[in-house]
Formats: sequence, structure tokens, C-alpha cells
Amino acid sequence: MRAIVLAAGKGTRMKSSLPKVLHTLGGQPLLHHVLDVLEDLKCIDICLVLSPEMKEDLKSFHEGNIAIQHPALGTGHAVQSAKDWIQKSSEDVLVLFGDTPLITSETLRKMKEAKDPTVSLVVLAMRPQNPGAYGRVLLEGNSSVVNSIVEFKDASDEIRQETLCNSGVMLIDGKYILSLLEKLDNKNAQQEFYLTDLVQIARYQGLKTVMVEGSEEELLGVNSRNDLAKAEHVFQERRRHMAMSNGATLLDPHTVYFSFDTKIGQDVVIEPHVYFGPGVTIENNVKIYGFSHMEGAHLEEGCSIGPFARLRPGTRISQKAKVGNFVEIKKSILEKGSKVNHLSYIGDAIIGARANIGAGTITCNYDGYQKHPTAIGEGAFIGSNSCLVAPIHIGKYALVGAGSVITEDIEDYDLSVARSAQKNFKEGSLRFQHKKNPLQEDNR
Ligand code: UD1
Ligand code: CA
Repeated sequence: MRAIVLAAGKGTRMKSSLPKVLHTLGGQPLLHHVLDVLEDLKCIDICLVLSPEMKEDLKSFHEGNIAIQHPALGTGHAVQSAKDWIQKSSEDVLVLFGDTPLITSETLRKMKEAKDPTVSLVVLAMRPQNPGAYGRVLLEGNSSVVNSIVEFKDASDEIRQETLCNSGVMLIDGKYILSLLEKLDNKNAQQEFYLTDLVQIARYQGLKTVMVEGSEEELLGVNSRNDLAKAEHVFQERRRHMAMSNGATLLDPHTVYFSFDTKIGQDVVIEPHVYFGPGVTIENNVKIYGFSHMEGAHLEEGCSIGPFARLRPGTRISQKAKVGNFVEIKKSILEKGSKVNHLSYIGDAIIGARANIGAGTITCNYDGYQKHPTAIGEGAFIGSNSCLVAPIHIGKYALVGAGSVITEDIEDYDLSVARSAQKNFKEGSLRFQHKKNPLQEDNR
């Protein structure tokens, strides 16, 4: 089986300068979801139909074939634009839409099974609660044989009452596809070349066309921002379910957001309001407290994060390390058992095993021109409210006094205090008060 993915439509209903199929769902473009499903099916011969403007944006996404449709004259015309690619083989062709990202490989397998040698075309249909403006699929009696698909704009009131709808996905016999495509015309309400007309054309030639039903949920077509939000909802529900089935505890699943590639081990506990951007992997027995946000981070066994923590790309939190509240970590490694428990920014740093970074410690990694690294040795102790001006190296078991601004390296086992020395003035407080208010009673 080979596949054509249509993505050349203007996507006007999105009201966006970004091509519709590049809008993201679960942290990756809609189109990528469709390509992932095809990969799952081991379908490697894929042709993507794009508009000329999209070619630049999209060519990095897809190394295979690209056909350009210009101008966009309908879904049937989009498939016609891939004629050169279609001609290369006589294998069956699966047509998918780039804006239908939730489709599953199981459903596509069902379509393939339905296409026995007597069948020349399989339509993927659905029964949405609200059939809205979807095309309507008309069957022959109670059978699964499809007579035609009528677009909503062309449908009579009677046909609009039908509830079986077209998802847009179609599996077409490789022997007939080109001759069927040649017969399309645009004599319809939208003056477009409809892919859906292939059904009637095939029937007219005595070919057998059948349908398979999929769930409304997975066949949701994203046309507007509202649809995008609905699709995100479905995606997130799937992922929450998956995380829990794999042994993670989600205290309030509906407030936890995953990305397409989030990987979660067993006995991970996730408190409410946690967001996983792309590139997060979590090993077993990790605890993530509420209101934490992370992307591009690897969390090793037994570490704990949050509440209110932010982990940015390039971060690794090693076994049993701790990141506490109001801590931001960027492109840094916390080695085993190290702790950054309160109110810190750690960027471009390596924190040695069991090092303790006191409250309010900041790595000053940026001088306005370049980013510089910080290295802190194992067992080091950084006193609260210290600034570590990078590039800087702090040796193992070194000790930094609270409130220090460290600009020079510190050797192993050394103590460093870098702040103005404290002066105490005998009864200075009383003198100050008397000066401010000579009538005030002596507090001694
Ligand atoms: C289409 C179907 C409709 C079905 C619905 C399901 C047709 C004629 N209609 O309608 O029966 O119920 O999907 O979601 O097929 N595209 C191109 N070139 C074009 C036009 C579209 O590549 O000239 C691509 C779009 O980028 C999109 C897909 O085809 O990925 C579907 O196009 P869209 O305009 O959204 O079709 P619908 O009106 O939703
Ligand atoms: Ca659509």
C-alpha cells in the first residue's frame, strides 16, 4: 500500500499565515501525526500534495515525494496533481487528508482488509453526533456498498438528513485510479474537482465500492481553531489514558498535558497542572509536583520536580536529584542526588553529585553576547542568594558563603565568601531612632 496525503488546501477557516497542516497538536504539526500513522503501517511510499507556497516550509518535514497542486481546485484535483507519482506503480493508493490527524493505524488496517479482490474502492465513513457540513455517504439499502457521496453544499434537504458522513479517507485500487480520476469534473456547487465523485464514477463502471466505519473522534477534520481545540482534547485524553495504563498516577488527569513524544515510566506520580512540551522522557519512580512545565528534559529514576518548576531543553535530572519550587533549569545536568530546592536559575551548568545549591542561587550565564558554562563539583555547597558569574568552576566539596558574587574559580575543598564585610555599630539603632524622633521613649 502507498499513500497520498493532501495538504494543499488554503485552510482559510484557520485565519492564519501558517499553513493549516503546520498548526500543532500535542506539540507537533498536524501533518506529522498523519505521517506517523503511515510509518506505523510500514507504508513508506508516500506522496505529499502541497501548494507552491508551502513547499519551502514543508520540504524539511518530508523527504519523499512531493507533488505541487496549483491552483487548488478541490480534493480530486489534488490527487490528480500526483499523477506522475501514481503512474509509477499499480499498487493500491490510500488517500489521507493532512487535516485529519487523529486517525489510527487500526482503522486504516480495517480498510485494507475490506478491500478484497472484488472491491475497487473503500470509503472511510463515520456517524458524528452532529453531521454538520460533512459530505454524506449514501449506501445501497442496508449493505456496506456505497452508491455515492454528496457534498453538503450540493445536498438536498433530504440528503442532509442522512447521518453517515465521509471522513475523506479513501483506499483506491491501483489499477483503476488513473482512469477514474480522468473522469472527474467540476460541475457542482463549489466548482471543484471532488475526490468524492470517484465513488459514483466507479459505480457507473460497475466497480464495487464499499465503506468501513471509523469513530467520529479519530476522524475529526481540523478546519478551524475550534476544531483544533477539539482535536487537542481528544489527543490529550488518549495520552492521559496511555500514561495511566502504563503505570503512572495522575491525580487530576484533565489538568496534565502531554506531547506526541512524552515517555513516562512506571510509578511516576504527576500532580495537577503539569505541562510536558516536546522531548520529555521520565524514568520510573519520578514525582512531579503541581504546576510544573518542562520540555526537552530527561528525568532519571527517583528524582523529584516542583511544585512550580520549569525545565528547559537540554536538561538532565539524574537519579534522586531534586528540583524544588520556583526553580528554572536550562541546558544543565544535575548529577545524582544533587539539590536545587528553592528559587534558582541554573543555566548551562553541570551540578556535581550530591551538591547542594542554596535558595536563590543564580548562574549568571549570559553577558549580553554569549552564554558561558558553570561547573560545580560533587558535594559542593552553595550558600543562599549567591551569583555565580560564568564561566566559572567551583571545585568539589567547596563551600560558598551566602550572598556571594563569585567571579573567580574555587578549588576543591576551599571556602569562598565574596561580599562586603559586615560592620556592627554599638547601639546605632537607638541613635538612629532618636535622630528621627527625639520625643520617642528610650526603648532600652
Ligand atoms: C472533505 C470532503 C468531505 C468530507 C470532509 C471530511 C471532498 C470534496 N469533501 O471536505 O466529503 O466530509 O472532507 O473532513 O473531498 N486539499 C487539497 N487541495 C484542494 C482542496 C483540499 O490539497 O484543492 C486538502 C486540504 O489541504 C485538506 C483536505 O484536502 O487537507 C480536505 O480539504 P477540505 O477543503 O478541508 O475539505 P472539506 O471541505 O473538509
Ligand atoms: Ca476538512
